[in-house]
Parts: sequence; C-alpha cells; structure tokens
Amino acid sequence: MTQMQRVELAPGYSISRILKGGWQLAGDHGSVDRATAIADMGAYYDAGVTAFDCADIYTGVEEMIGEFRDDYRNRRGADSLDQLKIHTKFVPDLSALKTIDHRLVQQTIDRSLSRLRVERLDLVQFHWWDYSVPRYLEVAQWLRELQQAGKIDRLSGTNFDTQRTKELVDAGIELTSMQVQYSLLDRRPARQLGAYAREHGIHLFCYGTVAGGFLSGRWLGAAEPGQDIANRSLIKYKLIIDDFGGWDLFQTLLQTLERIAVKHGVSIATIATRWVLDQEQVAGAIVGVRRGDHLPEHLKVMAVALDAEDRSAIAQVLAQSSTIEGDVYSVERDIHGRHGNIMKYELNSAT
Ligand SMILES: NC(=O)c1ccc[n+]([C@@H]2O[C@H](COP(=O)([O-])OP(=O)(O)OC[C@H]3O[C@@H](n4cnc5c(N)ncnc54)[C@H](OP(=O)(O)O)[C@@H]3O)[C@@H](O)[C@H]2O)c1
Repeated sequence: MTQMQRVELAPGYSISRILKGGWQLAGDHGSVDRATAIADMGAYYDAGVTAFDCADIYTGVEEMIGEFRDDYRNRRGADSLDQLKIHTKFVPDLSALKTIDHRLVQQTIDRSLSRLRVERLDLVQFHWWDYSVPRYLEVAQWLRELQQAGKIDRLSGTNFDTQRTKELVDAGIELTSMQVQYSLLDRRPARQLGAYAREHGIHLFCYGTVAGGFLSGRWLGAAEPGQDIANRSLIKYKLIIDDFGGWDLFQTLLQTLERIAVKHGVSIATIATRWVLDQEQVAGAIVGVRRGDHLPEHLKVMAVALDAEDRSAIAQVLAQSSTIEGDVYSVERDIHGRHGNIMKYELNSAT
C-alpha cells in the first residue's frame, strides 16, 4: 500500500494529508451507529489517517472521538495513538457574538477538553459568523491567552476571508492553518487567500473536496436532484454546483474526471481529492466519513499522480465555469441569501 503523505505544520507537529472529517457523524447525514463510527476511527488511524477534524458544534462528535481515544489506548497501550491529532473548532453562536466574554470562551474550550478527554487541545479552528460584530480580534486574544495557559497547542481559523485573516495575523495571532471550502467546483481560495497564506506560512485545510459525494461516480449521468436531496452536505454543495455553472457543466466535469479516473485505475472522488491536494498551499484534504466504506478510495489518493494531460483536460472544463463571487465564504455570510439560509447558527449552546 502507498504510504500516507504527511506534512509538518510546525516543528514537531505533523499530520496526515488526508484528515478524517467529523460532521457526517453529527446526525444531519442520517443515523449513526456509534460503535461502528468508533471502529471506523480506528481503521482510519491504522491506515495512516492520523488527523481528525471535528467541532464543538458537531453534536456528539467530540465525545465520540474521546471515547475512541480511551478505547483504543486501553486496548493497544498508552502510546498507541502518539500520532493522533484532533482538530476541533470554536464556533460561538451568532446570537452570542455581541455578548461573548472571556468566561464563555474558557467554558467552551474546557468543554471540548472534557469531551475529547485530553489535557490540551491539539488545534482549535476559530469561526466567526458575522464580521459586522467586530469582536473577533478580542475573542481571538482570549483564545491566545488559553493557548498560553496550556489548554491549546495550535490556533487556527476557519472560513475567515483574506482581509480578516490578515487582521488576525496583524493582531499577533499565530495561525497554523485556515480551513476553507476548496474543490474543483469552488476555487475561491486560489484567488487571494492562497497567496496570503503562502506569504505567512498558513496552511490550508480543505473541505468540500468531493462536494458531499457529488464529485463521485454515483452522480455521473444522473438526473439533476430536486428538493429530495438526502443530507445537509448535498444541499450545501448543490448550491455550489449551481454557482459553478449548473448541472450540465457539472456533468461535463464528471465525464472528464471519469476518463482520467479510468486511465489511472481509480475513482472520480480520488481524482477530485488529489486535485485539491495538488493546489498551492494546501496541506490537507478533510474527507467526510459517514461510514467506513470509502477508506480504500481515500488511501488511493496517495498513489495517484495527475499528469500534464490530466491537468489540461480539467482546466479546459474549469475555464467554462462561472466565478463564485467574492473571497472564501463571502456568499455564505449573507444569512438571508441562498447559502446562508441553510446554515444552523445556534448549535453551540444546543450541543
Ligand atoms: N469549516 C467548515 O465550515 C466545514 C464545513 C463543512 C465540512 N467541514 C469539515 O469537512 C468534512 C468534510 O465534509 P464535507 O461536507 O466537505 O463533505 P465531503 O468530504 O465533500 O463529502 C463527504 C461525503 O462524500 C461521500 N464520499 C466521500 N468520499 C467518497 C468517495 N471516495 N467516493 C464516493 N463518495 C465519497 C460520502 O457520502 P456517503 O456517506 O453518502 O457515501 C461522504 O459522506 C466534515 O466532516 C467537516 O469535518 C468543515
């Protein structure tokens, strides 16, 4: 089996370039069998996927990872998870942004520590719903204080655009990474954030790499779905397909990816993930795992190398696509817009 590629994010802090995503275990993507989900975590870890992504707002997922840690170490020994890095998020509710104080930040971080059953969080990705409440720098400083107090190892962000990423950096917040949507359908990070991140040594972690499963053989030749879309990821990424240029152009992309996939003896999803990992400043692709059945495909991402002919065929389709306006996460920030409308803003106090 091809070795999992790894990347050193900071001296002594290295992760697998494929990260196992946790949102799919939070209940919005169908029912979850807890024991199977925990067993899947072990299978991914054993296969070399040693970094897990989760969030304080993914209902029950931090607890599940905490249980996995204890179970695995009890069975295999205290140092058996030495390579495990758990990347959580700090996502205060929209309604709390005006009033959030140091105490609430600390309580939320303490809650993640206790749910994950760790003494220090490996990496915390800060999210802020609304820039018009201009308190993200103040709150980031409180996170930094908790980092200095030893509760957090690395600080990072998610969904901050280039301007606000710069504000955080200028305020002295040392960001290890920025987690953003990045895929063949959504190349907004390549516009500005990628270059800024490169200049400042900020690694990009990418979600949406297979657009919730749309970028896979399952949708090749399929009719455009209507209101009956199966889960929240697919609802979210169908909007991105619409912005990309619609269903027909999406099918042209899938046909091109299928030709490349057949040539390399892998799947469309594997090619789509490889393409993201090959983009500038991308350290890792976060793959959503609902069940463990895509693990072999996720590992094949390491074995495949796109050549000039593949890249050119893909570029020809992408050249026909529409531009999603704005910087990363800009269209999503309009809470009454198509993208913002489907988001859940008050999960932190509810979980
Ligand atoms: N920071 C943020 O705002 C944010 C937002 C979204 C997600 N995330 C993170 O990113 C992770 C990924 O989430 P996502 O929404 O972007 O989902 P995604 O990884 O684009 O899609 C995940 C789904 O795609 C299907 N899939 C995955 N690999 C496949 C393969 N090789 N072949 C065929 N189908 C495949 C599976 O669907 P089936 O289970 O139906 O087969 C899986 O549940 C999340 O778990 C979360 O950790 C972060």
